[in-house]
Amino acid sequence: MSIKLGDTAPNFQAETTAGDLDFYNYLGNSWGILFSHPADYTPVCTTELGYTSKLKSEFEARDTKVIALSVDGVEDHQNWIKDINETQNTEVQFPIIADRYRRVSELYDFIHPNASATATVRSLLIIDPAKKVRLIITYPASTGRNFNEIIRVLDSLQLTDSHKVVTPVNWKNGEDVIIPPSLSTEDAREIFPKGVTEIKPYLRYTPQPNT
Ligand code: BEZ
Repeated sequence: MSIKLGDTAPNFQAETTAGDLDFYNYLGNSWGILFSHPADYTPVCTTELGYTSKLKSEFEARDTKVIALSVDGVEDHQNWIKDINETQNTEVQFPIIADRYRRVSELYDFIHPNASATATVRSLLIIDPAKKVRLIITYPASTGRNFNEIIRVLDSLQLTDSHKVVTPVNWKNGEDVIIPPSLSTEDAREIFPKGVTEIKPYLRYTPQPNT
């Protein structure tokens, strides 16, 4: 199944390091991050899961639940977590799905046969509280993802869902944002009391409204 932005993230039940769970129950009304990695006991994946674990308070601050996945079994996950904790100086607390029968991987298109017939690729989805898919990224096995970028996208999505703004290239939380073309400059000046800077009629900035 090919999942696209705006689609409803399909629900599933899975065996995980936190026991059997129902994905929707796990997410509740929170935002979610579902990410796959190629295999346990591999170096790049070890750094990725370790770093994600260290971002725990950042994800909590954004009301976001994290869950990882590979096609390894739960016992391998549990033993590998010990290595991650030891080598990355952390304590992995989010669940890892043991997708031995590839049910979730097939549902979410995490196996790309021309990259690897058996291993999941490095995919990651952000899912909003309405269970809509808001971000999909897929990286090659040789390249670890940048989880600071995932936090940045969460900040952008949560900001732009609640205010009539969009965020520019390399934007970081707290920096000026862009007024979308759908809003007239006149209306923007009313909505954004901190001010509107017009560079071009279609390129207008305002300070981030919620800071
Ligand atoms: C790694 O996580 O280090 C890795 C996984 C699959 C292929 C290459 C590297």
